[in-house]
Amino acid sequence: MAKVFSTFHVENFCFTRKLTILPNSPHFQKWVPKIFSRIEPRNHLFELRSSNGYPLNAVSLQDEGSAANPLPQENDFPEIEKGDTTLSITVIGASGDLAKKKIFPALFALYYEDCLPENFVVFGYARTKMKDEELRNMISRTLTCRIDKRENCGDKMEQFLKRCFYHSGQYNSEEHFAELNIKLKEKEGGKLSNRLFYLSIPPNIFVDVVRCASTKASSTSGWTRVIVEKPFGRDSESSSELTRCLKQYLNEDQIFRIDHYLGKELVENLSVLRFSNLVFEPLWSRNYIRNVQFIFSEDFGTEGRGGYFDHYGIIRDIMQNHLLQILALFAMETPVSMDAEDIRNEKVKVLRSMKPLQLEDVIVGQYKGHKKGDKLYPGYTDDPTVPNDSVTPTFAAAALFINNARWDGVPLLMKAGKALHTKGAEIRVQFRHVPGNLYKRNFGTDLDKATNELVLRVQPDEAIYLKINNKVPGLGMRLDRSDLNLLYKARYTREIPDAYERLLLDAVEGERRLFIRSDELDAAWALFTPLLKELEDRKIAPELYPYGSRGPVGAYYLAAKHNVRWGDLTGEE
Ligand code: BG6
Repeated sequence: MAKVFSTFHVENFCFTRKLTILPNSPHFQKWVPKIFSRIEPRNHLFELRSSNGYPLNAVSLQDEGSAANPLPQENDFPEIEKGDTTLSITVIGASGDLAKKKIFPALFALYYEDCLPENFVVFGYARTKMKDEELRNMISRTLTCRIDKRENCGDKMEQFLKRCFYHSGQYNSEEHFAELNIKLKEKEGGKLSNRLFYLSIPPNIFVDVVRCASTKASSTSGWTRVIVEKPFGRDSESSSELTRCLKQYLNEDQIFRIDHYLGKELVENLSVLRFSNLVFEPLWSRNYIRNVQFIFSEDFGTEGRGGYFDHYGIIRDIMQNHLLQILALFAMETPVSMDAEDIRNEKVKVLRSMKPLQLEDVIVGQYKGHKKGDKLYPGYTDDPTVPNDSVTPTFAAAALFINNARWDGVPLLMKAGKALHTKGAEIRVQFRHVPGNLYKRNFGTDLDKATNELVLRVQPDEAIYLKINNKVPGLGMRLDRSDLNLLYKARYTREIPDAYERLLLDAVEGERRLFIRSDELDAAWALFTPLLKELEDRKIAPELYPYGSRGPVGAYYLAAKHNVRWGDLTGEE
């Protein structure tokens, strides 16, 4: 017989959470006051709840059948009071760069903000032989405290490190994972256990690890989830193969494909901006928007990562995932709710409505060495791990189109590059000219300079600003373009959490909204695979650009062909 659950929305100061408690549980009376005492007054701030009351563990529409060794489904487990459950987070590839720089610091930040459950342990797993103490030393070097709560940082760090352990093992050894399982069980002390595995490892060993972890170290009493980092294959075929292999051991609902750009504050805010302000959504279409630009740039090269990068290139590294995910969120129709499946359903529709990418709408570049003063900046092929004749693009620009009623004919431009003059990521929305503009003659001949532009600066210095025309104060009638500017650091004192913090917390809570579903991934590859194949089969030579420059000139011509000017290169900012 179906059980009836009462659901309480519980907010702590960092995130909105959902907790389900049986009303007839003996602990019910004890819990309610506890929960409400944790709710802090929020002044004039308000938040959307993470899932609009839908069950967080709603089964994905994309679950293409069960895994061969189906693990217990999350809903099969009884609701149990928080103190009786444990969370074990195992970081596979614990000695790698990503783990050290991002994952452990993010876990500590969550602990510091009281966002992790009472009973948790963190395990590092890698091949390197190391003792618990050595792991603690290693990660303590990269832990930092939130600026607004520094006082007890040292204590907190110590407490966190005490919960960190290490197990050394091979990635394909079931035996070593069985040993890990014993250690995990020991720490879990017979409580209901939930286990999260973070795969911070190269993709060629994903499947081995998932096989070993799922057969030997998955939870038998709670849920088991696996976070995977891109690259999810190199093209449609390899990506489907990877998905197929992972699904031999996991159900779609257990796989959390991370795209850390979706965890960035401004990207999260995109939907808030669109759907909770009256002034934007009515303009969000071909009727008012002339073009949209998704721009990513880094002011350093592939230093130290040439080996990996040469196998992928900038299109696979940034465009097919980070920029395309933002584009899908930007362009999607209003979802039925903020529930993960509703949002992902809308995103996938956008991806599937995209016009096939034409080679003539893409330009590729590669940085070359450049001397500035006394300093010599190396070219991409100067990297010893990159072949001298590599044609792998370190820069690409593309014009994309969505064949639907909302976006028909609107160029959506993407640009991504390494070793450019600046570092940043932004979304630029250029609006159409004002029809019959009464002030036309005040702008001179260049009407483009007088159009409104909305900029969402994802990083650095998060900001949202709208360029508007304004009368310069005085007796005459002179207009200029000014910014209505929401600069985050001026408006909010709170430090912005790192994307990995949000995503790790979501994975712990079973919130899938910011993770990529397998059909989204298929659609993303379907868009880029033919283009990549053509570029690679024809060995299209990238246009060289100097390290630290604004990128290849081809990008200007591509934009001009579609009647667009790159908003980041107008010299206004
Ligand atoms: C990664 C890419 O996904 O994102 C890297 O593989 C890139 O090449 C990085 O440097 C950029 O992330 P962020 O958060 O530093 O902008």
